[in-house]
Amino acid sequence: MVIVTGGTGYIGSHTCVELIGNGYEVVILDNLSNSEESVLDSIEEITGTRPQFFNVDIDNATQLAAVFEKIGSQAKSVIHFAAKKAVGESVKEPLAYYRNNLDSLMNILVEMERFQIPNLVFSSSCTVYGQPEVCPVTEATPRKEAESPYGNTKSMCEDIIRDTARAQSLKAISLRYFNPIGAHESAKIGELPVGIPNNLVPYVTQTAAGIRKELTIFGDDYDTEDGTCIRDFIHVVDLGKAHLQALRKLETETIRSSYDIFNIGTGKGSSVLELVNTFKQATGIAINFKVGPRRDGDITAVFADTTKANTVLNWKAELGLEEGLRSSWNWEQNYRSKKA
Ligand code: NAD
Ligand code: UFG
Repeated sequence: MVIVTGGTGYIGSHTCVELIGNGYEVVILDNLSNSEESVLDSIEEITGTRPQFFNVDIDNATQLAAVFEKIGSQAKSVIHFAAKKAVGESVKEPLAYYRNNLDSLMNILVEMERFQIPNLVFSSSCTVYGQPEVCPVTEATPRKEAESPYGNTKSMCEDIIRDTARAQSLKAISLRYFNPIGAHESAKIGELPVGIPNNLVPYVTQTAAGIRKELTIFGDDYDTEDGTCIRDFIHVVDLGKAHLQALRKLETETIRSSYDIFNIGTGKGSSVLELVNTFKQATGIAINFKVGPRRDGDITAVFADTTKANTVLNWKAELGLEEGLRSSWNWEQNYRSKKA
């Protein structure tokens, strides 16, 4: 059995589909603070299996301990997705972010030790690299001081896991995701941004759907080929598969403790303008856009060297930008039609 915290969320739900499809028994822990319980129906529709679900605030040690009393002794592994993730909000409410993201991880680690659960996969982010001196970035590229409290929680969580694995029986992997996009091909699960999206792809699909009037591209005067920022857009289905491979690696290791980090991206940088043009190729829809000023805190370019994940995890991104954008658009349309 694998415990998936944040399993009704965007990346968690796609990972649950991969896990169930590969024979894992999945138990989801989520407080639904940024997801909907109906995601369980969608997972069941896709896989034919409804995962067991506990509505629990992982930040609350007592509540979490009560859930682990029920399932802890059967679990072999934990994948810890649950976290607050809005960068801007974290600047305004740093304590809420430090409390939720750090306490949740520490509560999970305490329960893992109590029930002798040996394997942990953790959601980290390429945000820990800040603006790297050289792209692509490898796992050996030095981390930079975080731009936001959210980013800082990711660096701090990585360190907490590393130190815990040194001190007790724990095998752990941090996956540093680059920019996740896309949705499951069924269009039954996908990203559910609350309010006006901060991230590029949901803003693009909502503009295509007529919910937003136009996209603002934040700056076209960066030192890149077309002047817009460059990111590594990784399909969420590929991302889900990376978790499966990380889990397989941990579960077959015979050592008592280990800690490792992997970049999870495509290895290819794409510019914001290139993404807007690719959306048109993928869907036939031209996005209304204007160019506005730079957004505070944005870095010029970051993309991954994925050699380590390719060789050690035997994982490679298979889906490209066009497939990611087409699936995001299908999800947006399907979700809106169900809500209408
Ligand atoms: P998401 O918000 O869709 O999913 C996170 C889930 O965690 C939600 O379902 C939410 O309800 C739950 N949650 C939050 N706090 C909780 C708590 N205290 N107790 C129980 N459940 C709680 O986010 P996502 O995009 O799927 O991200 C998953 C993980 O990946 C997060 O740790 C995030 O920081 C990380 N990450 C995301 C991105 C991205 O761009 N989406 C990039 C890098 C890393
Ligand atoms: N952008 C626009 N217009 C928009 C939204 C975004 O031009 O309306 C641009 C941004 O300026 C940036 C690029 O699109 O150049 C990507 O922006 P996102 O907000 O989609 O993603 P970020 O790279 O800023 O950050 C995201 C998450 C972080 C995470 C990081 C790496 O928000 O939490 O990816 O995984 F750490």
